[in-house]
Amino acid sequence: MCGIVGVITAEGGVGEVLSKALKRLEYRGYDSVGVATVNENRIYIKKDKGKIDEVNERLDLTDVPGLIGIGHTRWATHGIPSKINSHPHCDCENRIAVVHNGIIENYSGLKERLTRNGHKFVSETDTEVVPHLIEEKLNNGLNTFTAILETVKELKGSYAIAVLIADYPDRIYVARNESPLVIGVKDKSYVFCASDIPAFLPITNQVIFLYDGEVAELSLNGVAIRNLNGEIINREILEMDLTPEMAKKGGFPHFMLKEIFEQPKALKNTLRIDEGRLIEVCKILNECDRIIFTSAGTSFYAGLCGKYFLANLSRTRSEAVISSEFDEVMKNIIDERTTVVAISQSGETSDTISAAKYAKRLGAKIISISNTVGSSLTRLADATIYTQAGPEIGVAATKTFLVQLGALSLISCKLAEFKAVINRDEYKKLLNDLNSLPEIIQLILDKTEREVKASTEAYHNSISFLYLGRGINSAVAMEGALKLKEIAYIHAEGYAAGESKHGPIALINQGFPVVFVAPIDSTHNKIIGNIMEMKARGARIISVIEEEDKEIQLISDTVFRIPKATDNFFKQIVYIVPLQLFAYYMAVRKGLDPDKPRNLAKAVTVA
Ligand code: G6P
Repeated sequence: MCGIVGVITAEGGVGEVLSKALKRLEYRGYDSVGVATVNENRIYIKKDKGKIDEVNERLDLTDVPGLIGIGHTRWATHGIPSKINSHPHCDCENRIAVVHNGIIENYSGLKERLTRNGHKFVSETDTEVVPHLIEEKLNNGLNTFTAILETVKELKGSYAIAVLIADYPDRIYVARNESPLVIGVKDKSYVFCASDIPAFLPITNQVIFLYDGEVAELSLNGVAIRNLNGEIINREILEMDLTPEMAKKGGFPHFMLKEIFEQPKALKNTLRIDEGRLIEVCKILNECDRIIFTSAGTSFYAGLCGKYFLANLSRTRSEAVISSEFDEVMKNIIDERTTVVAISQSGETSDTISAAKYAKRLGAKIISISNTVGSSLTRLADATIYTQAGPEIGVAATKTFLVQLGALSLISCKLAEFKAVINRDEYKKLLNDLNSLPEIIQLILDKTEREVKASTEAYHNSISFLYLGRGINSAVAMEGALKLKEIAYIHAEGYAAGESKHGPIALINQGFPVVFVAPIDSTHNKIIGNIMEMKARGARIISVIEEEDKEIQLISDTVFRIPKATDNFFKQIVYIVPLQLFAYYMAVRKGLDPDKPRNLAKAVTVA
């Protein structure tokens, strides 16, 4: 997730407008920043690694010539954060500058073709193919709009792009597919494009939305939108009633809720992980004797799920060890036949880095799964799988947990195919299962949010909760309990349901709330037994169930319903979503700020 912006102004001060807009988009990424303007038919670029304030201090982004410009703040996906990989990117002659948010899936094929035809690439980014493709089309004699249109037609994946062309210093071209892009207009004095409204909100609240599969030419004379068939689209200007703070959160009251709602997109992007990367990781996993997941907090529960996926899908044994315990537990176990899979959203958690370093010293191979390109963990790893959740601002991890499960599922499927546990058709069926999850999550968000919110009425005075599940559902239950603890400050314990009768059941008295993660799977019959045990002792039962599961519905006080997905191998993954919403609404009900829970930090960089 990056932030892009473009502006054309009659008022001057384009550098200042771009810098301020980028600052307001910094929540979308801050690995590097850059701007490009056109003046006297020449493109001027300033860009570098670092946050906007740091780069501004070094380069003074406000000092750029012209009345038109584009800018970018980067969340690295392809290529480490560096000056070369910073946007804007240009064609061979520096006549076309492009900023991009998203992932161009087919960039390597396009890059190969363009290189063969003499184009020179300088960065590792997927984005750089775009200016070269436009250059190719313009050299073939197409007019600018058609060149942009034909370029966009060649792109697969997600993108919002803004394009400046030196020969046309009065216009910006934009296009979008599955990445956000809005246009802002103010009389004949300003026209903007941006990933998000806050970029230009202090100057105008007059907005035109661009939809997927549309291309637009922006100038002070107007906005011309076309679809990919070249047909003209008329779109009205809307007046947005938003404060800058609300707008930054996409209209949501908190980042946490926004991020919960971003999960379909985040998972979809993560499931696009390059097959070559998966194969590289699976080779390492296949060649070792011992696989150990290590991580902290939410990422630890992802590791537990990873263990289930590996066992059930690829018949591979592994264990999950909390990073802070790693050296004590593993000191006599690690050797060069060991692979450690270190999972960390930030890639900067001190405990996880220490565990990985410790294992590496003893000869183990390190695979990292991280959401942060170029982070410390990824630098010490032999191979890395990047999740694609974009920056997560809320301290409590939500979308980054879900995408970790997505990445672990993909790895497990690939390893199963690699080890010939499944054939190509079975692999494809599993991929279909995974690819259907974003839609299921969207349905949960659309249908279940209201019932989850309403349920807090009955539970907000409870001081302790038990969360139970069996198999992989116990890991989901633990993560659900962690969420409630972290942001609503309510004691909650996640447990394997079968084990609850060996201790936690002693806590149960009249009205004690017990949450069950209870999909219709191989654990279903036994979980009904566990529900009955708790019910018999006066517990109030909250169950997360498949929507047609009348059996558990009848014995529960509250249910959160999940769409039916009978054959879907990965259906358990989505059961975390209502539990995230439950924690969120419990916190809100108690008047707490879910984005900034007390005593917690987003990345814990101390041991
Ligand atoms: C902190 C955060 C948690 C996170 C954990 C691990 O405790 O508050 O939300 O799950 O660190 O973070 P990582 O970046 O390594 O996944």
